[in-house]
Amino acid sequence: MKISTRAKLEKHAVRLRGRRVDDLFAANPDRFEQFTLMQKGIALDYSRQLLDAEAREALVAYAEEQQLASKSAALFAGDKVNITEGRAALHMALRAQSDDRFALDGDDLMPLVIEQRDRFLAYAEAIREGKITGHTGKPINTVVNIGIGGSHLGPLLATDALAYSSGFDCHFISGAGGQDLDITLHSIDPETTLFIVCSKTFTTRETMLNANAAREWFVGQMSEAAIASHFAAVSTNSGAMDKFGISQSARFSIWDWVGGRYSVWSAIGLIIAIAIGRDAFMDMLAGAASMDKHFRSSPWLQNMPVLLALVDFWNRDFLQKNNHLFLPYDRRLHYFPDYIQQLEMESLGKSVRLDGTPVDYQTSPAVWGMNGSNAQHSFMQALHQGTLRSSVDFFAVAKPGPNYSGHNAEGQHDVALASMLAQAEALKSGRQAHEVEGLENAAHRVQKGNVPSNILVLHELSPFSLGSLMALYEHKVFVLGVLWDINPFDQWGVELGKILTNKYEALLAGEISSTGPRNIVTLIREWQED
Ligand code: F6P
Repeated sequence: MKISTRAKLEKHAVRLRGRRVDDLFAANPDRFEQFTLMQKGIALDYSRQLLDAEAREALVAYAEEQQLASKSAALFAGDKVNITEGRAALHMALRAQSDDRFALDGDDLMPLVIEQRDRFLAYAEAIREGKITGHTGKPINTVVNIGIGGSHLGPLLATDALAYSSGFDCHFISGAGGQDLDITLHSIDPETTLFIVCSKTFTTRETMLNANAAREWFVGQMSEAAIASHFAAVSTNSGAMDKFGISQSARFSIWDWVGGRYSVWSAIGLIIAIAIGRDAFMDMLAGAASMDKHFRSSPWLQNMPVLLALVDFWNRDFLQKNNHLFLPYDRRLHYFPDYIQQLEMESLGKSVRLDGTPVDYQTSPAVWGMNGSNAQHSFMQALHQGTLRSSVDFFAVAKPGPNYSGHNAEGQHDVALASMLAQAEALKSGRQAHEVEGLENAAHRVQKGNVPSNILVLHELSPFSLGSLMALYEHKVFVLGVLWDINPFDQWGVELGKILTNKYEALLAGEISSTGPRNIVTLIREWQED
């Protein structure tokens, strides 16, 4: 009887679950070379995975069986791969280079993409050069991005990582509650501030609450007439932008074939372009485009997005790891865990196959993380000695970032790198009973090890390498969608919460009374009234 590829993988898992990664290293001195991949300034060292060549071959065979090649071709061809919304997913077109071609329903997309790209980059340059000023003629020196999810996290990550010395004071207002709006409005000068309202739909409750509140504050500080010089917007919804008072020259389009969490390459990245400039933004696009080419052209065993996905698939489905940590050891990648959390969990947090049948395997793990150096003094104890089942992606940048203050943090960059390498080794090897035998509290000192990790090293952190890194994970997510036979481009699960919010807003406002016994709503209302 033909044994399924998944069954073959299970047999490899049974064989390897009893092994230690250290044994795999001992048995193969070339393990680092055979389990490391380099791609234009990014190195992926996955030698600390509980994986050998045989199991890796079986994983590749499974990817083939899942028709990865034809599904990847369909993605780039503009097929409606987002089947539940009947849409293509052509975020790659946004970073297309001059020789690239993308089409949708037979129509060449490039004129549309290039026209919008030229528009928002020219607008960004004009702001940077003071050719576009505020209503009173003062240059803009403060930019406030109002958006949430993909209209917030990608711009936040890239602006924070790349624009430390940009000369622009960049703020990000995202959640409901009004606190980050209030803190921001309290700290900016309306005369020199540009607000950018980023929302594909221009209906997202939190974003529109914040945008309308900022608008009201601004009119109070200046005037209705000044709106056109101080508010820009990025959306598919031109009617809503008309209503808000966004001028034609300060509005930029996005399209429904770009998912929110895949949109940083579009005018949703306007704040990045203002902060780092057109040329650097084009470098970021070039980095992503370079990863696109690599993903489209490399054999699976030399294909970084595919290998990352196969390793995650192996850890999730066959080693039952239900936590995946992102630990960057560079302050400039501080927001990478937040960005990747949405990209991975909103894309892969599904339990229904493309055909509508329920999955009978695991899909997205809990994806979380923080700056690795801080994590060592926070939750890493739980990974070393707890009962969590985790895998880790470590990130490092070989070359230290620029030094702006002239301070001399003697060798601190290498201390961070050494810390990361130490954590990866401690997770891999742990400390076995025989190593602590005879010590006080010996039992409390044992740590099992065999916690799998990838180490990704960027040669340097630049717009190009950040663009490559973000595109790498976009394609990893796509490949995992293929392996799990799920749709990584929709997010039906967020709709119910939005609907229920309306009910609770009415309850808290007393517009409807809560029936039945006392509950938390009645308690909150009582406390608000005392
Ligand atoms: O969380 C749901 C979601 O639709 C995300 O996918 C999206 O990035 C975010 O809300 C914001 O959506 P919009 O850009 O339309 O305001």
